[in-house]
Amino acid sequence: MNAVRIGAAGGLDGLERVDLPDPGAPGPGDIRVRIHASSLNYHDYGVVRSGDPKFRGRIPMSDGAGVVEAVGEGVTEFAAGDAVVSCFFPLWLDGPATTGDFATVPGDGVDGYAREIVVRPATWFTRAPQRYSHAQAATLTTAGLTAWRALVADGGLKAGDSVLTLGTGGVSIFALQIAKAMGATVIATSSSEAKLEKAKALGADHTINYKAEPNWGEAVRRWTGGRGVDHVVEVGGPGTLPQSITAVRNGGHISLIGVLTGRGGEVPTAAMMVKQVRLQGLVVGSRRQQQDFVRGLEATGIEPVIDRSFGLDALAEAFRHEESGAHFGKICVEF
Ligand SMILES: NC(=O)c1ccc[n+]([C@@H]2O[C@H](COP(=O)([O-])OP(=O)(O)OC[C@H]3O[C@@H](n4cnc5c(N)ncnc54)[C@H](OP(=O)(O)O)[C@@H]3O)[C@@H](O)[C@H]2O)c1
Repeated sequence: MNAVRIGAAGGLDGLERVDLPDPGAPGPGDIRVRIHASSLNYHDYGVVRSGDPKFRGRIPMSDGAGVVEAVGEGVTEFAAGDAVVSCFFPLWLDGPATTGDFATVPGDGVDGYAREIVVRPATWFTRAPQRYSHAQAATLTTAGLTAWRALVADGGLKAGDSVLTLGTGGVSIFALQIAKAMGATVIATSSSEAKLEKAKALGADHTINYKAEPNWGEAVRRWTGGRGVDHVVEVGGPGTLPQSITAVRNGGHISLIGVLTGRGGEVPTAAMMVKQVRLQGLVVGSRRQQQDFVRGLEATGIEPVIDRSFGLDALAEAFRHEESGAHFGKICVEF
């Protein structure tokens, strides 16, 4: 079977196409899945690009969607022919977070889904939404579930709430779609006027160009009549958090998700305290949250926004497209 591995040198040019043995029939509790699609995340990009020797030979990509080909003894949840999508934390089934690292994450601590066939425990997957293509389903594992958890599972989003999204990458566009589908008001930011137009077409109620308006936190406050937003989906990190703290309402919720501007920095802690802001770090979500999300997607009819799809052979090219920042929403590979 075809697969892609991270080569000795690391980096996008070090990605190697390999032919691996077929994993065979599923054992008890396992399913055999023919993977048809994956989607790119900033996290996958970091793993592939890092050059860290621990990733040598690793099959990258945390997201995987495809069709069950066979089920092992004792598996009742799935049957051959079912469309499924992988879980980011395959051992975190339900309840509070059980993990504080990436040791069990496919495409990081263990092999991921840049390959055609896997045999894995049935609980490493959930069913995919009905009507979804495999590429659409593959966008749920990381980006989609993160946005759902930030706003719904942990954020308690309700109709009438206001949501601020930063930039127009995978997580932010899912957050925009989820918020609109659930009756919230959305303020979307981007560095690109053309992307802001696309965000409006998806339902964004107000848009701000964060390059043209460096004090976008104040601009958000003004637009909300001085109140601030209920939820911020914070994908930027230290470079954007101070503005997000300005933008959020007293007692509002900031989901600290991303590292686009770096991994550490100064935080205006006094402003957070005075505003009684709830700042929550979070990493993706549990299998149960993914199951809830799948039902939510079916009920709302949300369709993931796929900017472009590449073949598995063109994985490096797909990452270069992500690196360029030209994309809006998700980038996929289909095979
Ligand atoms: N904690 C978690 O569970 C989790 C899960 C998924 C992702 N993440 C993290 O969340 C971040 C976004 O991930 P992604 O997969 O959505 O990335 P992505 O699809 O590559 O999105 C990148 C987009 O972010 C925007 N951006 C870049 N710098 C920005 C800035 N200074 N301010 C505002 N927006 C900025 C740009 O949008 P414009 O072109 O519109 O300006 C860019 O196109 C990454 O740091 C990733 O590691 C975390």
